[in-house]
Amino acid sequence: PDLSQRHTFGIASQCRTLYEFSSVQQLLELYPQLSPCYVMGEGSNTIFVEDFDGQVLINRITGVTATPMTIAGQSGIHLSVGAGENWHALVQYTVEQGWGGLENLALIPGSVGAAPIQNIGAYGLEVGERILDVEVVDVSSGRLFKLTKDECEFAYRDSIFKRDKARNWVVVKVDFWLPDDVTPIATYAELAALSNPDAAEIYHQVIAIRQRKLPDPKQLGNAGSFFKNPTITRRDYQNLQASYPGIPGFIVSADAVKVPAAWLIDNAGLKGVCIGGACSYQQQPLVLVNQGEATGEAVIALAKKIIATVKSQFGVTLAPEVRLIGKQGRIVL
Ligand code: EPU
Repeated sequence: PDLSQRHTFGIASQCRTLYEFSSVQQLLELYPQLSPCYVMGEGSNTIFVEDFDGQVLINRITGVTATPMTIAGQSGIHLSVGAGENWHALVQYTVEQGWGGLENLALIPGSVGAAPIQNIGAYGLEVGERILDVEVVDVSSGRLFKLTKDECEFAYRDSIFKRDKARNWVVVKVDFWLPDDVTPIATYAELAALSNPDAAEIYHQVIAIRQRKLPDPKQLGNAGSFFKNPTITRRDYQNLQASYPGIPGFIVSADAVKVPAAWLIDNAGLKGVCIGGACSYQQQPLVLVNQGEATGEAVIALAKKIIATVKSQFGVTLAPEVRLIGKQGRIVL
């Protein structure tokens, strides 16, 4: 089966077999008829860089239920959502219902089940802040269980679902809680211009920003940010500031500063640079795009060039945020 339409980067690649599952029972019956086996949602954070010599399972578990729920005296809406639902459709539904809390995460490509895995975040909000618990099935034993928000160990683009112990877990359902009096988050520079915005205004503004800055995967293959924003020590940051007074940085703890990878790539002169149809995007160099004919080799060559150039110029190591899948499964650059 052809995978080019199954991942948003759109590289021509094949797998041995491909199935969609719409229930836990179906998943357990299918898993794994062939090894290696890769389970995914909409393929918006996965790049198949060559033919995958295994089985791909696509999560199509659907269903959205919304019920009022009071937690610690606070009233709100409890949402229970199948992992195969589309993320943006869920955000749109909540905003239309007048339920605030997810609007900053509008237009993020992908499925609901993928959201907690990398703890999707944008414009001042991370999804983990709205999650009550995540239901997973361990496909090696068939055991179905829930992890509370704390057990999910959410951090910047990270969670327990990325650890080795979770290698046999598949997210099947996500429970959210949206408090009625949730405070709109408008701290991000381009949202701060809005005065006292409600959820719907933030939602529309986030959509406008994303449409302006980020390429639409339907028109130009991409998987969003290719690298994570690196965290460096305060001392390393101060040393960089001495040479590059304009370098932005966000203090994340007493000794840690997060630096925008987009700035590092831009100031290494790599904005818009291409290798064989794989390019760093002009408007947002942290996003790598497929001009149409990019091969997996070209994407990896470009990623390695960016990592090496940023390392030699700034001494900072960029790590991929996307998942790269090769012949036998995960590839680590
Ligand atoms: N910048 C440049 N040159 C450019 C573009 C940006 O130097 O051409 C610098 C600027 O200093 C700018 C800074 O990079 O202020 C940050 O850029 P931006 O606000 O676009 O956000 P980002 O840090 O590059 C992160 C997320 C995005 C998310 C935005 C908005 C990561 C890896 N990426 O990008 O998430 O939408 O913030 O909150 O954390 C994704 O994960 O796929 C993704 C798109």
